[in-house]
Amino acid sequence: AQTVGRDEEGVLTVAGIPATRLAEEFGTPAYILDEADFRARARAWRTAFGADADVFYAGKAFLSRAVVRWLHEEGLNLDVCSGGELATALSGGMPAERIAFHGNNKSVQEIERAIEAGVGRIVLDSFQEIVRVAHIAQSLGKRQKVQIRITVGVEAHTHEFIATAHEDQKFGIPLAGGQAAEAVRRALQLDGLELIGIHSHIGSQIFDMSGFEVAAHRVVGLLRDIRDEHGVELPEIDLGGGLGIAYTSDDDPREPHEIAKALTEIVTRECEAARLRTPRISVEPGRAIVGPTAFTLYEVGTVKPLDGLRTYVSVDGGMSDNIRTALYDAEYSVALVSRTSDAEPMLARVVGKHCESGDIVVKDAFLPADLAPGDLLAVPATGAYCRSMASNYNHVLRPPVIAVKDGKAKVIVRRETEDDLLRLDVG
Ligand code: LLP
Repeated sequence: AQTVGRDEEGVLTVAGIPATRLAEEFGTPAYILDEADFRARARAWRTAFGADADVFYAGKAFLSRAVVRWLHEEGLNLDVCSGGELATALSGGMPAERIAFHGNNKSVQEIERAIEAGVGRIVLDSFQEIVRVAHIAQSLGKRQKVQIRITVGVEAHTHEFIATAHEDQKFGIPLAGGQAAEAVRRALQLDGLELIGIHSHIGSQIFDMSGFEVAAHRVVGLLRDIRDEHGVELPEIDLGGGLGIAYTSDDDPREPHEIAKALTEIVTRECEAARLRTPRISVEPGRAIVGPTAFTLYEVGTVKPLDGLRTYVSVDGGMSDNIRTALYDAEYSVALVSRTSDAEPMLARVVGKHCESGDIVVKDAFLPADLAPGDLLAVPATGAYCRSMASNYNHVLRPPVIAVKDGKAKVIVRRETEDDLLRLDVG
């Protein structure tokens, strides 16, 4: 857990540093990321899966050079899904062979760069891409390790999964109708490719393991069919990411060791039934590692009570630093962190500074009735998909990421400046 507490004055502290000091030194809004917590979570995943499996951190959740270094040091691999993420991974010193390259529309330049750099695997997402990657690899005189991403017909939600419907989406090659088997056939024929396994990613913010169970069953079924048809046993399977975290107290996430145990058991059982050697398993958690490790620190600007409705509390950021509430109706909690208060709780909505009424950070929150401009609020669990999905809407500057550890704070991604914005405007 994050090393958070309160000091004698009632100010929230993280890694021993008061939130008020962080706000003074670095300004608001800011993402405050607990490095020790990040490393502990990364290590917990690594340890849970052990030496016979690989953990690829999903860089889309949040990526910076510092994060790449921590992951490297903690023995994790890295999943990237664009040339930009690949550049960040390489620049942060992640060895190329520990990088997996994803995406449904990788450009020729991105593929060339990845193969030249020597990435450990490219995850192929379409028939055209199978041919494209094979040709590029061959023209570079290389044989590229690849996996094929399939859709197994499982849509995983937080507490249920709906079979069949989910082949209607842009990612992967459907298992249905023999399409995945055909993709394997083609990949095995191409000299530029070394097919090492099958990939499946069933969704995000999942708490229920039954979707993974069905996915593993179907992936292993395909491995069995491949063995029967081609006489080869593919050595790897990747079950993707998607493990849920607690955004509010209603969420009850599983620990990495429970997840590792469940996934390993499912795959082993299915392989025994199919008389296959158990393949090396990999997973791609993003949110489950970085999500809980950061909070966003905001300053309250205005407090507007609407009689009989609620009080609108405006903070100095909003949908440009956390789009998830507007985009997914995501739920967050919020706390007053620059002081404690004995005032009655009031029904509040925490909103941003953008010119849009959907610019909501926390839809329903209880905050002390004496809340006032200048108070600091923290919104927890913003480590994943907040900075990485941040925008410059309304030409608002994207906040910095501050890493805290053992009483020290350092900027790992600096705050944008107006010069940064104007640098791109060359008209
Ligand atoms: N692997 C693949 C192939 C993925 O597509 C994703 C997420 C992950 C791993 C990591 O999933 P995680 O463990 O972080 O749930 N922006 C959204 C989520 C979209 C995720 C897309 N793919 C959000 O804010 O919730």
